[in-house]
Amino acid sequence: MTAKLIKGTEIREQILAEIKEEVDKIKAEHGVVPGLVTILVGENPASVSYVTAKIRTAKSLGFKEVQDNQPEDITEEQLLALIDKYNKDDSIHGILVQLPLPKHIDEKKVLNAIDPDKDVDGFHPVNVGRLMIGGSEVKFPPCTPAGIQEMIVRAGVETEGAEVVVVGRSNIVGKPIAVMMMQKGPGANATVTVVHTRTKDLAAHCKRADILIVAAGVPGLVKPEWIKPGACVIDVGVNRVGEKISEKTGKKVAILKGDVDFDAAKEIAGWITPVPGGVGPMTITMLMRNTLNSLKFRLGLM
Ligand code: GUN
Repeated sequence: MTAKLIKGTEIREQILAEIKEEVDKIKAEHGVVPGLVTILVGENPASVSYVTAKIRTAKSLGFKEVQDNQPEDITEEQLLALIDKYNKDDSIHGILVQLPLPKHIDEKKVLNAIDPDKDVDGFHPVNVGRLMIGGSEVKFPPCTPAGIQEMIVRAGVETEGAEVVVVGRSNIVGKPIAVMMMQKGPGANATVTVVHTRTKDLAAHCKRADILIVAAGVPGLVKPEWIKPGACVIDVGVNRVGEKISEKTGKKVAILKGDVDFDAAKEIAGWITPVPGGVGPMTITMLMRNTLNSLKFRLGLM
């Protein structure tokens, strides 16, 4: 069997086109556009490249985009004051503080200072609580899990009553995707198992999965014999395993490997996401959707 590829790069283009259409309509009818501020502290190369991609995407959709770069030595107090300024700014609907932050700043304190109704990352405890309650309570599902669910749905994979096994229990992927898949409603209604580093028999659990979601951060962790024939395999791993020279740009780029042994797994699975080009492109896409939705909540359109 050769699995169908679920390409994040293609699904991204569909969703961005849908967002653009809504932005144009809201602009014409209400005279406003979604406003997103990205706050970057310091110059961590990975963070710079994520933030650049977020800004580029927001601009292509006609958003108001504020790029607020701050020096590495900004104090916690100054950063909290900056967040307060954007909390009060009516033209800003989404506030994103790029993580990680420098060691002298308390990340939790900073995330908790963002107005939950502008927290488009979905990291504020209020939004984590809303996600747990589910249904119409949910405002901003965290972006990577929201992207995973969207991929599963758009690929036409049945989730109702499906055995979903999530490998990994992080706050940004494992825990929220497990909660989302077990909720009532379309694209969910699944029976969910979460496995992690202390699980006794990882392979046995994975073998039962109709939908296997792997977010462990361990390259090649999932072996082909752990995959149920015909299963849907979502690989969230983005592991830098080396460097190469890009054929396109001639520059040094990271070699990325997923948490699943892709070449072997694609012969067994029914659907599989590649790395790169799978889950990765979906995260920024869902950030854009959360920012649009934030404006729609404000306008009473949702
Ligand atoms: N750093 C790595 N991923 C993310 C993300 O999704 N949001 C934020 N704010 N920082 C990140």
